[in-house]
Amino acid sequence: MVNQGRILTGHRPTGPRHLGHLVGTLRTWASLQDAYRCFFLIADLHVMTTDYLHPALIKQSTIEVIADWLAAGIDPQRSTLVLQSAVPEHTQLGFLLGMLTTVSRLERVPTYKDQIQALGLSPSLGLLSYPVLQAADILLYRADRVPVGEDQLPHIELAREIAQRFNQAYGTTFPLPQAILSQTPRLPGTDNRMMHTSYGNAIYLRDTPEETTRKIMSMFTDPTRIHANDPGHVENNPLFTYLDVFDPNPGEVSGLKELYQAGQVGDVAVKQHLAGVVNQSLAPLREKRASLIQRPDELVEMVRAGTSLARQTARDTLTEVQERMGLDLSATWRKHEPLRDDPTLVGAFC
Ligand code: TRP
Repeated sequence: MVNQGRILTGHRPTGPRHLGHLVGTLRTWASLQDAYRCFFLIADLHVMTTDYLHPALIKQSTIEVIADWLAAGIDPQRSTLVLQSAVPEHTQLGFLLGMLTTVSRLERVPTYKDQIQALGLSPSLGLLSYPVLQAADILLYRADRVPVGEDQLPHIELAREIAQRFNQAYGTTFPLPQAILSQTPRLPGTDNRMMHTSYGNAIYLRDTPEETTRKIMSMFTDPTRIHANDPGHVENNPLFTYLDVFDPNPGEVSGLKELYQAGQVGDVAVKQHLAGVVNQSLAPLREKRASLIQRPDELVEMVRAGTSLARQTARDTLTEVQERMGLDLSATWRKHEPLRDDPTLVGAFC
């Protein structure tokens, strides 16, 4: 039953989704759909803050992400899928919220500091304002809960601060959004670093069972173990992190852990078992994905329908914000201007 409030969360379309996304966010999102009114955002404008030079890539990634989301159980009948760039209210609200946010506050956001180090370039205004746009994403739909990974907590904190400042200045308008932190441990990549599209260590939802098996067979294990009959370590060993997540039979996993610690089972045997378990667990999702990706027009149509529904809410919120901020003429015009189907929505994919 939908009664516990509103959720907004999203991903940047940076490429196909991998097992880290599935375990860290998508499974949680799918499970929240019964209890909450959910908005799932494809944050394509946020991609621009670090890469605006690859238009073909962003288009392709958007389709891949939609297919992955739906295959993982995001249900467009119950939830609303929103394409950020097709709802101009995101940028409009972001601009206005920028008035309530100091540059020095934004310069202290940890993700920004990490990005400028990685970039080695002079950061753009767009990058600095990344979390303000994210606050606008959340506040536009008056979401009270935001399921995210730990790295996003500073952004949710900033969104709360901005909401609070707005409410104090203009009267209560926004609920103060709260994070719902992912409960599952972070899934490592095949090299035991964090799984990341740009590290070449990811297993993708769209990978074939053969590719998956190949990647698992090349996976990092216990570096202290030289021979198959050396006693092995299971802590911080990605093979067992994966088994804990994917093996439906916990008794079997504890048995394997004991054998491994006693040096009675080799890495290859554990990997073969793991590959079977992962492929079996992903089979239904992959079947659904393969069929969805054949019909990109239908995928686009689902997002178009969600986006046009979302836009009505976005318009109402922005109108109220404009009124409260004294931009009354714009607010009034907006009220009387009919909502037309937005051609940019279709244009984004053609
Ligand atoms: N910054 C988020 C990420 O990189 C994506 C995102 C954009 C988002 N807007 C959001 C997440 C609003 C939650 C709420 O993963």
